[in-house]
Amino acid sequence: MSTQRESIHGQWSSRWIFILAATGSAVGLGNIWKFPYIAGENGGGAFVLVYLLCIAAIGIPVMMAEVLLGRRGRQSPINTMRELAKDEGRSTWWALLGWSGVLGGFLILSYYSVIAGWGLAYVLNSAAGNFAGAPAAEIKGIFDELMSNPGELIFWHSLFMLMTMLVVARGVKKGLEMAVRWLMPALFVLLLVMVGYAINSGEFMRGASFLFSPDFSKLTANGVLIAMGHAFFTLSLGMGAIMIYGSYMPGDASIAKTSMAVAIADTAVALLAGLAIFPIVFANNLEPGAGPGLIFQTLPIAFGQMPGGTFFGSLFFVLLVFAAWSSAISLIEPAVAWLVENRRWSRIKASVICGMATWVVGLGTVLSFNLWEGYTLWGKTFFDLLDYLTANIMLPLGGLFIAIFAAWVMSRESTRDELELGDGGAYPLWRFMVRFVTPLAVIIVFFNAIGLL
Ligand code: PHE
Repeated sequence: MSTQRESIHGQWSSRWIFILAATGSAVGLGNIWKFPYIAGENGGGAFVLVYLLCIAAIGIPVMMAEVLLGRRGRQSPINTMRELAKDEGRSTWWALLGWSGVLGGFLILSYYSVIAGWGLAYVLNSAAGNFAGAPAAEIKGIFDELMSNPGELIFWHSLFMLMTMLVVARGVKKGLEMAVRWLMPALFVLLLVMVGYAINSGEFMRGASFLFSPDFSKLTANGVLIAMGHAFFTLSLGMGAIMIYGSYMPGDASIAKTSMAVAIADTAVALLAGLAIFPIVFANNLEPGAGPGLIFQTLPIAFGQMPGGTFFGSLFFVLLVFAAWSSAISLIEPAVAWLVENRRWSRIKASVICGMATWVVGLGTVLSFNLWEGYTLWGKTFFDLLDYLTANIMLPLGGLFIAIFAAWVMSRESTRDELELGDGGAYPLWRFMVRFVTPLAVIIVFFNAIGLL
């Protein structure tokens, strides 16, 4: 049973809508844009295996913990953490966990919006027929051209931020539900079509074996950290997005089943994206480690060659933008909900101000692909640094503290009561995972990556 608290922001209409919304948050650029290129950069199979292990052993238990905290607190992550800590007679400093999530969401969205903007530009490129029959080199040229043009990048980044502010301003039900009800299933179907195309492309087996046959000699300690960080990133964990969606969840829905459903759907989309992309990479002698431009330099080749490619290409990028949109919303929702709760701002005012602040930081990412390309710290551009700091440091640390809070701070009764896992082994298993496995895994991977172990 859930406690008696109610969210002032409203509630999802049903369990099914919670699954859709959480899947909408989870499935995004992380699955389709980021997963393939980091898998490519880190050698494929072994990296993918570590990522899958992290999803199963860390991601699912932490997701359950995060939903649980949200549903019990029923407020923005900052206030939820404060209230729950009070309930347990602990320090209200735990609210800092909510604050770090707000900061993380803000930083992630700043670059997320820029990349989603590339997606918008590609809707136009496909619809204009620019890919039709174009060879790989020309397709790469289209991408390079876009990157070298800050004005255009800023335009698309601005448009995407506006779209995000619009939905967030409309609120949980009207704004968020509509966006996820139809688009996620459509994206899934289109990815299946793309994999179907890849199967016929001649190099399917090479693509599949790149993704699934592990070669551990290619995996570095830093690669393991990136795989773990990505498990948090792709499931939207460690910064309060899933926590706040949990706070809108009906009290009678099963946290375990819904979390599992979200994790499975998210993983399926990432693997499908990989299976659609790598056969094209190999069939066209492209570089798997091409970096952030990978999907924009590969998929258009396929669209350029397949019948109806102009249509399918446009549709694909439209759906990619929608997937990014439903994730972007969840990245600022914790901040907006806090401003509404504590500052009594209207949702509109809160969304506009958060959106504008995020937009400004996003300009740094835009410039890091052109004018600031040469300015690097530890070999990383502004965009690389933001990505590394958020995905590989802030999210795993956030997840670590969420696990510690749920398993060490909250009483057994509170978590047991909220999870309702029955009397079998499921509850003890969950508790063991968040109590020991998650903290140890995160700590070991961290120290390993900084070379202390
Ligand atoms: N999970 C989203 C994706 O894969 C990104 C995200 C991270 C969204 C953290 C919310 C919170 O694209």
